[in-house]
Amino acid sequence: MATMTELHSRPITTNIGSVIEGIDLSEPLCPRDRDFIGSELYNRGVVFFRGQDLNGEQMKAFVSNFAKLQAAKFTGAAKDDTGLVADFGATKQFTAIWHADGTFAEEPVLFTALRAVSVPDVGGDTCWSSMYAAYEALSEPMRAMLDGLTAIHSVEPVVRRLGAMGQAYGERAREMFGAEHAHPAVLVHPDTGRKALYVNSSWTTRIVELTAAESAKMLDLLFEHIKQPDFCMRWHWSANDMVIWDNRCVQHYAVPDYAGQRMMQRVDTEGQKPCGIDD
Ligand SMILES: [Fe+2]
Repeated sequence: MATMTELHSRPITTNIGSVIEGIDLSEPLCPRDRDFIGSELYNRGVVFFRGQDLNGEQMKAFVSNFAKLQAAKFTGAAKDDTGLVADFGATKQFTAIWHADGTFAEEPVLFTALRAVSVPDVGGDTCWSSMYAAYEALSEPMRAMLDGLTAIHSVEPVVRRLGAMGQAYGERAREMFGAEHAHPAVLVHPDTGRKALYVNSSWTTRIVELTAAESAKMLDLLFEHIKQPDFCMRWHWSANDMVIWDNRCVQHYAVPDYAGQRMMQRVDTEGQKPCGIDD
């Protein structure tokens, strides 16, 4: 089993992120460690481990403690034969937008894990924002209104944004996941019971119950709101850093300010239909 000693976690900011120390993730997790990491993941949204020199199978084994792995991986980045190591350099503009992964699907991916294989000395950071904190910072009347609303998520905004590369991505996504899906604008996290804002600037196209003009303004306001530094953290990668995040309660943004390759191992899990206030 992975550890004989107590794990230790250190918060990154008040609202989001933990670094967990004292564990070698190449070994199977004992139930105590699994529960500890799970609790940090659900409550802090994003959890980091340093010095994890894992092969693909070890990384998959770790992530599978929290959900079934996604059989058909779907990202814009090219993969090598293992299906895990990807060069994000060619597609870095694609993820330079605040988003949660895969919300265009009926059952969006629950967890995403990345491990740095080779990264630039400067640049290529990733930012995360807490959707618990973003929701809780809204005024009570705003929260009350959003609680009952539904939003449409679609690949179309990304297809438009990416031009020629977007066409192929869009066709594949529509084939695998359908054209669009409705999700609650406010998600209730099944493990913490906390509410999280669940609209993002990459995939959310409109709020169903509002007029087109109201929806456009409301989404603009919320997309701006979630960028507040109060809710956010930023991570500068070193080789063998590993992260896992919960797409139900955080959004992320990959900063494309680097030249050359940025090689990462990536594992996604299967998804789940998001629960709203009334579910
Ligand atoms: Fe992403």
